[in-house]
Amino acid sequence: MIRKLLDKLVPRDYCCLEKQVIELNSFEELKKVFGWLHDPILDRPDIHDFDYVEDVNERRLRDAESLATVIRNVQPEVALEIGTADGMGTVLMSANAPSSSIYTVNISPDEILAGKGGRLTTVALEREKIGSAYRARELSNITQVYANTATWSPDIGTIDVAFIDGCHDTKFVYNDTRKVLRHMRPGGFVLWHDFNPLLSEKFPWIGSVCRGVDKLCRDGSICGRIFLIRDSWVGIYRVPFR
Ligand SMILES: C[S@@+](CC[C@H](N)C(=O)[O-])C[C@H]1O[C@@H](n2cnc3c(N)ncnc32)[C@H](O)[C@@H]1O
Repeated sequence: MIRKLLDKLVPRDYCCLEKQVIELNSFEELKKVFGWLHDPILDRPDIHDFDYVEDVNERRLRDAESLATVIRNVQPEVALEIGTADGMGTVLMSANAPSSSIYTVNISPDEILAGKGGRLTTVALEREKIGSAYRARELSNITQVYANTATWSPDIGTIDVAFIDGCHDTKFVYNDTRKVLRHMRPGGFVLWHDFNPLLSEKFPWIGSVCRGVDKLCRDGSICGRIFLIRDSWVGIYRVPFR
C-alpha cells in the first residue's frame, strides 16, 4: 500500500530522489527549516502567468518564492545563474540581494546555431534579448557572461548561491552541477529549475532534469535533502558544511 503510494508520488526510476526530496507546504516552512527571518521580495513581472494547465496553480509564484526566499536570506556575496533568457530571474535575484555580485551565463545564439548546445530549453534568443529585462532596469550588480556551459568553467570566486536553469538535458544538468559544486561555499545553496519528480512524466524537460539530479544523488555528488515547495518546479539543496 505504502509502496504504491510512493510510486505514485515519485516514479521508480528516481531511487535516490525518493529518499532525498522533502516537500514543503510554503516558503514559510522553508524559512523555518533554515531559521530564516525574511520574506521574499516577489519582483518578477510574470509570476502570475501560466503556460500549461499544470501551471495554473500559481506555479510561477511558487518558483519565485523558492528562489527569492533563498537569495533574500542568504544575501550571497556571489550568486550565479546558469541560463539568463530574458533576465527576469536575474531581476528577481537582484531585487532580493541588491549588494550581491550576480553572474548570469547564457550560451550565445551563434553557438546554438553551430550545433554546440544541447537539446532541451536551448532556444536561440537574439543576443540583445538575452538579459533585456535586467538591462531595462539598469541594475548595476549583474554581470552577463556569454558562454556555453559545456565548455565554460566558473571563474567568479566562491559561489554562495547557484541557480541552475540552462540546458535541461540530463547530461548538462549533471555536468553544470558538478562544475558549480567545485566552487561552492560550504553551506551555500544550489537550486535547479524545472525540478519536480511528480511532473517528470508530463514534461520531458522536467524528467530530464530529475534524472540529472538523481544521478548526482546516486554517485554521491550531492548528499542530503532536496527541498521542494509544493507546486513549485525548483529543487533547493544546501551544500554540506565540511
Ligand atoms: C529556461 S531559460 C532560463 C530562464 C531564466 N533563468 C529565468 O528564470 O527567467 C534557459 C536558458 O538557458 C540557455 N542555455 C541553454 N543551453 C545553454 C548552455 N549550454 N550554456 C548556457 N546557457 C544555455 C538558453 O539559451 C535559455 O536562455
